[in-house]
Amino acid sequence: MKRKWWMGKVAYQIWPKSFADANGDGIGDLEGIIGKLDYLKGLGIDIIWISPVYRSPLVDQGYDISDYYDINPVFGDLTVMDRLIAEAKKRDMYIIMDLVVNHCSDEHEWFQKAMQDPDGEYGKYFYIAEKKDGRLPCNWRSYFGGSVWEPIPGTDKYYLHSFHKKQPDLNWENPKLRKEIYRMMNWWLDRGIAGFRIDAIINIKKKLPFRDYEPDREDGLSYIGNMLEEAEGIGEFLEEMKHETFEKYDAFTVGEVFNDKPEEVVEFIGEDGHFSSKFDFAPEMCGKHGTWYEHEVVTPEMYKNAIFDSQLMVGETGFLSNIIENHDEPRGVSRFIPEGDLSETSKKALACAYFFLRGIPFIYQGQEIGMENCDFPDIASYDDISTLDEYQVCIDAGYSKEDALALAHRFSRDNARTPVQWSDEAYAGFSSHKPWIMVNPDYRKINVKSQMEDPDSVYHFYRQMIALYKNPKYHEVFAFGSFLPYLREEGNLIAYQRSFEGQTIFVLVNFSKEAKSVTLPSDQTEVLLSNSKTVDKNGDNVKLCGYQAVVLAVCE
Ligand code: GLC
Ligand code: CA
Repeated sequence: MKRKWWMGKVAYQIWPKSFADANGDGIGDLEGIIGKLDYLKGLGIDIIWISPVYRSPLVDQGYDISDYYDINPVFGDLTVMDRLIAEAKKRDMYIIMDLVVNHCSDEHEWFQKAMQDPDGEYGKYFYIAEKKDGRLPCNWRSYFGGSVWEPIPGTDKYYLHSFHKKQPDLNWENPKLRKEIYRMMNWWLDRGIAGFRIDAIINIKKKLPFRDYEPDREDGLSYIGNMLEEAEGIGEFLEEMKHETFEKYDAFTVGEVFNDKPEEVVEFIGEDGHFSSKFDFAPEMCGKHGTWYEHEVVTPEMYKNAIFDSQLMVGETGFLSNIIENHDEPRGVSRFIPEGDLSETSKKALACAYFFLRGIPFIYQGQEIGMENCDFPDIASYDDISTLDEYQVCIDAGYSKEDALALAHRFSRDNARTPVQWSDEAYAGFSSHKPWIMVNPDYRKINVKSQMEDPDSVYHFYRQMIALYKNPKYHEVFAFGSFLPYLREEGNLIAYQRSFEGQTIFVLVNFSKEAKSVTLPSDQTEVLLSNSKTVDKNGDNVKLCGYQAVVLAVCE
């Protein structure tokens, strides 16, 4: 594959509302991000993805945009944004923004105009339809619950929303709309951003004409994904978008792509793919079925199989973006480490297991200090719309409030949305004011300051991993090397091999409390990194203690 500037880079996701608050109103902001650039540089980060900061009523925390050409005043303004881009550049870092174009906010000017005149020009920017024989155009269920159709007041018409009713879907079949989107994207690229994380993109292509699918719950509705399975032709939109925008800027793009099939890997992230990369959501989908109460507990074997299958599926066709968590998921350490086994050591083991996979490693804010899920005291303390919907689904299914709350503790997106814990001072050093959402009470124990002071902390382990990844001696093998599972059948062992031009690295992670002995194909190896002080290695044999992780290079 042709080499690109973003290959071999390490990325970090900022969810701005909870990252750092500079002006003391309890809400994170752009100035707060600027203040932490040196911290991120010190960690070793190259690319920073910032979740949406555009003007928005924040119904879905910025994933509902009312003006693509402006910054939400709670976060700052365009001048601060320009400064952030410039300050990042000064430090050889790149800013990528979130591109949310499946839908906008119902407060966007286009939608307001469409509501005034649904048959006019702006009505065609959205999906607007009428009932037929007294029935809605289709029975799709929106991601956040209920029908995708919402009545337009004063008319007999409805508009479609795949997510919340305050997030009307944009009609990508309309070339005029597409042109408007590309203009906006280029406007941002011209301002100096290095690319985009592309939100919910699979939803832009609908299977038309609208029709019902097999109902899958008592509400008579059908999961919208059932329709997406059948929708064809998204590639034409994505290719057009690429030619009109990113391609001209050599931008880095990472798609939020779910449910793609093995044969689509090339199309999406191959050398001439629609995007540079796409997230590997296989670990996030692990054990998930239907609603919260149907989810299974993720075992180390399930986790291993998920990441290994994705790695093998993609092979050297392209680069996945690897994660253990993001703003839509609970904390990775709380999810993938078996209950009772959570410790600084096991957190480092999980980190090591995913970080050296082939692809672009992404770190979500707070992950580098081992932030954990947060037990909110009651449902009223949650903010996230999707959490409130899922909770209600559990209640409607007969779950008690306590049991539904316990499920929220495990699965709510707000687990990852509590403020980053910078210190043990008031409000975890995130703000001088009471934050917009509760701070995880464990901040006195888990915070950046104490992690930085402790040379054996999770934070320092992340720094070491990044430094090793970028060490010129090994950078090529980590960035471009092939991936091969090692001793895959061995339970609770996550082990793999990365190889490039005669160089071989082994990553061995004992994902259990019990000691484990592993035999390597070579007795000439050198330890590059471990999450414990000593590595018990004898010739080709490595004895791993509980949750020990070791990275070794085969000596040449
Ligand atoms: C994506 C975002 C999520 C948002 C949704 C709707 O999945 O990551 O936070 O709610 O799209 O925009
Ligand atoms: Ca603020």
